[in-house]
Amino acid sequence: MERLDKILSNYGGLTRSTAKEYLKKGRISVNGSIFKDGSIKVSESDEILMDNKPVVRKKFRYFMLNKPSGYISSTEDEQADTSPNVVSLLKNEGVKGLFPVGRLDKDTTGLLIITNDGELGHRLTSPSRNIEKCYIAEVDGILTKEDTEAFSKGFEFKEFTSKPAKLEILNTDTENNTSIAKVRISEGKYHQVKRMFLKRNCKVLKLQRVSEGNLNLDETLKPGEYRELTDEELDLIQQN
Ligand code: URA
Repeated sequence: MERLDKILSNYGGLTRSTAKEYLKKGRISVNGSIFKDGSIKVSESDEILMDNKPVVRKKFRYFMLNKPSGYISSTEDEQADTSPNVVSLLKNEGVKGLFPVGRLDKDTTGLLIITNDGELGHRLTSPSRNIEKCYIAEVDGILTKEDTEAFSKGFEFKEFTSKPAKLEILNTDTENNTSIAKVRISEGKYHQVKRMFLKRNCKVLKLQRVSEGNLNLDETLKPGEYRELTDEELDLIQQN
């Protein structure tokens, strides 16, 4: 048995607030009767209709992984690479069809959503959505406000011009000639952050993704650990 409002947001593609509104407006029925209270529990065999159309209860699962270094998240251009794929970290879940939403380089760590919901995956990676991703980068070299300005103007690459990006310098270490910065980009081209820093003659030494849209990496997750997204987090990413 599962709560009606949870089913509507998990399988009907509604946010929790829209589900509430639909219920209030009498747009939801269970076994032919209108239900306005989302807290009632319904079973697998109950027929739920939204605007007279069945809500198909396909078991979608959504996980947040703190990707460790050394794992690949793509199956295409790294086919020759025999390193493990991020999905193998969730093998004990026994869920078929899991895939990472977007990709991180093998040596990049941090937030990666893993799901079996193709529609959501497609939506979150669609370039037209401009979802902002935030990274913490440790780079070789001392960053200055000229770098911040250059990031804010965008860079010309062979196949595209990057959109303005935000660079916030968090720390500079003159002894070791390194800097740590926060970078926010709203695109996801191949090696984009690394290539932007290279344009400023800086090599990325470490890269970690800490947020995607309004979803933040759970800092209690150690690299390689994952957990299911909470209802609130699922709502947040569905609003992206
Ligand atoms: N930019 C990169 O260069 N690498 C990543 O993994 C993600 C963004």
